[in-house]
Amino acid sequence: MDEAATLERDGRDRIEAATTSEQLEEARVAILGRSGALTLALRAVGGLPPDQRGARGQELNRVRQALEQLLAERHEALAAVELEARLRTDAVDVTLPGALVPRGVPHVISQTQREIEDVFVGLGYRIAEGPEVELAHYNFTALNTPEDHPSWSPSDTFWIDDEVCLRTQTSPVQVRSMEAQPPPVYIICPGRVYRPEADDATHSSMFQQVEGLAVDRGITLADLKGTLEHFAREIFGADRRVRLRSHFFPFTEPSVELDISCFLCGGSGCRVCKHEGWIEILGAGMVDPNVYGYVRGYDPSEVSGFAFGMGIERIAMLKYGITHVRSFYDDDLRFLEQFAGAAR
Ligand code: DAH
Repeated sequence: MDEAATLERDGRDRIEAATTSEQLEEARVAILGRSGALTLALRAVGGLPPDQRGARGQELNRVRQALEQLLAERHEALAAVELEARLRTDAVDVTLPGALVPRGVPHVISQTQREIEDVFVGLGYRIAEGPEVELAHYNFTALNTPEDHPSWSPSDTFWIDDEVCLRTQTSPVQVRSMEAQPPPVYIICPGRVYRPEADDATHSSMFQQVEGLAVDRGITLADLKGTLEHFAREIFGADRRVRLRSHFFPFTEPSVELDISCFLCGGSGCRVCKHEGWIEILGAGMVDPNVYGYVRGYDPSEVSGFAFGMGIERIAMLKYGITHVRSFYDDDLRFLEQFAGAAR
């Protein structure tokens, strides 16, 4: 057999023996690489006598083309097989369960806040907000609470400086809301408040309130009572009764506290209502005309209104039988997880 035929046969054998792309590349280098068998043979053509070069060159080039084509075909075939194999080994089994990320639960205070909001939003109230670091003007003065009132004292209020404090109540949002819009105004304001309390079972130096304010033409104490009765029934059960007890707040006249009939015993007396049959849930009253004096555009001879304020912790403690206010802030998941989906 002549040399070209041998080169072709050996080349084909090597190429066909390769079972991976790597082996195929080795075969290509051995045949057509810089010092591959065919490359060397082609280079040797130049050293032949001129009359032999043409035929020899043609013969070897035909072999080269044949082997190059074979290499290309094998390359394609092996690449396809290898891709197939890689797809099989790298495949993700989408039917396997994923790593479970535990789902959180809204804090029971947040749930209670939303429940309260829902009741008033359902009555057409808007949710308002105000700053926690508040001017004494809004926290006290404009709420008809002069500087000689005991609530100004550092034992009742965290002061930042002479004019700025941490709000002790959400009531300052009343005046802020009236300043921001002409009457009528129907808002509730949930938010944090601060007082220098000695922490105990029912007191915390930070807690949350929801304030309410309704100012319009012709609003009376009967509107206040009806609104809060609706609220009490939505939150504590449809058969709740309410009663207003006379009280004092600087910014309302008259001022009242609202009691609900005990949701546990229905009024006959039990542990929850301390054998009273009634449970106090919030403070309220008719907005004192002096308060309108701090707001432009609210004329007490034309408008009247009521306001109320309640502690969210207190509502949640009553509703869920929680005995210590600290439980809300300890971030103990064993406590918090009990309230998964507690609110409707
Ligand atoms: N701000 C009062 C408090 O913190 C609660 C309150 C009472 C708010 C009567 C009112 C109200 O709007 O009319 O104790």
